[in-house]
Amino acid sequence: MSQKTSILMVCLGNICRSPLAEGILKSKLDASNFFVDSAGTAGYHVGDLPDRRSIQVAKTHGLDITNQRCRKFSPNDFKMFDHIFVMDNSNYRDVLAEANSEEERQKVDLILNQIFPGENVDVPDPYYGGDHGFESVYQMLDEACEALSKKLSEKL
Ligand code: 4NP
Repeated sequence: MSQKTSILMVCLGNICRSPLAEGILKSKLDASNFFVDSAGTAGYHVGDLPDRRSIQVAKTHGLDITNQRCRKFSPNDFKMFDHIFVMDNSNYRDVLAEANSEEERQKVDLILNQIFPGENVDVPDPYYGGDHGFESVYQMLDEACEALSKKLSEKL
C-alpha cells in the first residue's frame, strides 16, 4: 500500500487561520489517501482549542474543528510532510528560516498561490478584528483548498 500524501497548514498562532485551513482541506480530501494537520510558528497557545470565532465560523459551514489542539511548528515537520502551506509572507519567512535543504524549501508555499498563482497574497490575520474577518478568511481558504484538493486528488 502506498503512503498517504501529507499536508501541513501553518500560521502564527495556530488558533485562527491554520485550524480553519486544516478543517476545510480535510473535509475535501479522502482520509484514506491524505493526512492533514496544522501548526503555528509561535508557541503562545500550545495545547489550546482553536479560537472560538474560528470554531463558530467553521460550525456555520458545517465543520467541527473542536478536535484540534494548537501545536508549534517544528523543523521535523519538513520530514513528516510532503507539502507545507503558510497563510502569510511572515509565516513564509519564519518557516523557511528553519529549512535545511532546497528539498525542504521547495515544500513550502503560500496557500493563496493556489488561486492567485505567483502573487504571494496573504490570508489576513483576523485575530484582532471582528467576526466578519473570520467569515472572509473562511471564504478565501475554502476557495484555495478547493483548488488544492482537486490538484492533489488528480495526482493520486
Ligand atoms: P493565527 O492568528 O496566526 O491565524 O492563529 C493569531 C492568533 C494569536 C495571535 C496572533 C495571531 N497572538 O498573538 O496570540
